Amino acid sequence: MSKAAAVWRCQDCGSMAPKWLGRCPDCGQFNTFVEDKVRRAEETTARWIFSSDEPRPLSGIDAVGAPRRPTGIAELDRVLGGGIVAGSLILLGGEPGVGKSTLMMQAAGRLARDGLKVLMVSGEESIQQVKLRATRLNIASDNLLILAEIAVDRIQLAVEKTRPDVLIVDSIQTLYHPEISSAPGSVSQVRECAGHLMRLGKGSNIPVFIIGHVTKEGTIAGPRLLEHMVDTVLYFDGGQGNAYRLVRAVKNRFGASNELAVFAMGDAGLVEVDNPSALFLSERPEGAAGSIVAAVIEGTRPLLVEVQALVTPTYLSMPRRLTSGVDHNRAMLTLAVLERRAGARLDQTDVYINIAGGVKANEPALDLPVALAVVSAGSDKPIEPGLCAFGEIGLAGEIRFVANVEDRLKEAAKLGFKKVIMPDQKPPKNPPEIELIVAKTLQAALEQIS
Ligand code: TYD
Ligand code: MG
Repeated sequence: MSKAAAVWRCQDCGSMAPKWLGRCPDCGQFNTFVEDKVRRAEETTARWIFSSDEPRPLSGIDAVGAPRRPTGIAELDRVLGGGIVAGSLILLGGEPGVGKSTLMMQAAGRLARDGLKVLMVSGEESIQQVKLRATRLNIASDNLLILAEIAVDRIQLAVEKTRPDVLIVDSIQTLYHPEISSAPGSVSQVRECAGHLMRLGKGSNIPVFIIGHVTKEGTIAGPRLLEHMVDTVLYFDGGQGNAYRLVRAVKNRFGASNELAVFAMGDAGLVEVDNPSALFLSERPEGAAGSIVAAVIEGTRPLLVEVQALVTPTYLSMPRRLTSGVDHNRAMLTLAVLERRAGARLDQTDVYINIAGGVKANEPALDLPVALAVVSAGSDKPIEPGLCAFGEIGLAGEIRFVANVEDRLKEAAKLGFKKVIMPDQKPPKNPPEIELIVAKTLQAALEQIS
């Protein structure tokens, strides 16, 4: 018999209390406490299948098998840090309908084709529905096993019986641990089921992919709670409004975080985009004021994105400042420096800053392009189309060094840019076809576009 103590748990943030509370003291949400049963650790049914009791010298431990197994989908491998690490737990999150099941099905298809046994557990769809998707994606393999199941203990049995090389679970919100009384999708179910899968995967060295739904607000019980438990967190960025889908590694114990994969959603599933910079710049308006291309680094990859600014007279006593795709606080700092160090007048204007195409970039090197776009928009003077920029702006108006200069320059040259405004850090080797304009201060940079 399990000895269970009653606790109350907030379904929003997972905070616990010994009694019911109307408002969660941690996250401030109302009416989110639900009674929950906690079990003692020794009652947990999942076992570390091959765990050893004795501490062992590090030098005596073999890293099992190949360190990484590429999925064959290059963009997915990129965000995974080169491939799937044995025994790792990978969370793939995103809004409903963004393409999580599709991506996992395609990865499973590739792995199965390479001779790996893949077990795909679907708690959301019947096996017939899964089959329909597979047919649409042109996937058929004897190595790909499908199971429609929501109880983790039965999933464990299936894993022990079939011994797959990769386990995929779709989705964590549908899973159910029979010893927890709350409903699937609640904080305790999600946490307990994920813990169960983690012990299962780590103990038997099977990599486990967990799919999790995130709502727009990101508040629902689920993926956010699991981030600290798993090895790798991948999120679908960029919503369904776009033809393309961005997958970002927000955490990766085995690779660079912030790595970005770009896919296009087509009739036959997700297709890798080879040249994302070209895609992001494809709709760039010609000769429009307030538009400039920024060379940013996402993870380990250089990317060109279009920064747009709009400066309009304000009708409000407190002018409006709206940003999308860039870090709001950094953009506000840049505006302040523009006003104080470069004499820009923005007190009577609303300022809107956007990265075109729903791309999110969060990098100090965006400061300079943002400043240039705002000045161009304010003065209504277009920036020449062959010019791009990158550089961090300091509070004294100085332009500071950024990382990976050579990669940024190469990407800009590849896309046909002729000039770049950048910090005073010319690399030893730079592409000859691009002219480097070095600016030590914001003022000097602005002179280049005036
Ligand atoms: P899906 O993978 O089911 O989303 P999720 O698992 O994240 O909820 O994908 C859903 C969307 O993708 C759906 O709107 C249909 C579209 N889609 C395509 O456009 N092409 C395809 O080949 C497939 C399989 C799906
Ligand atoms: Mg799905």
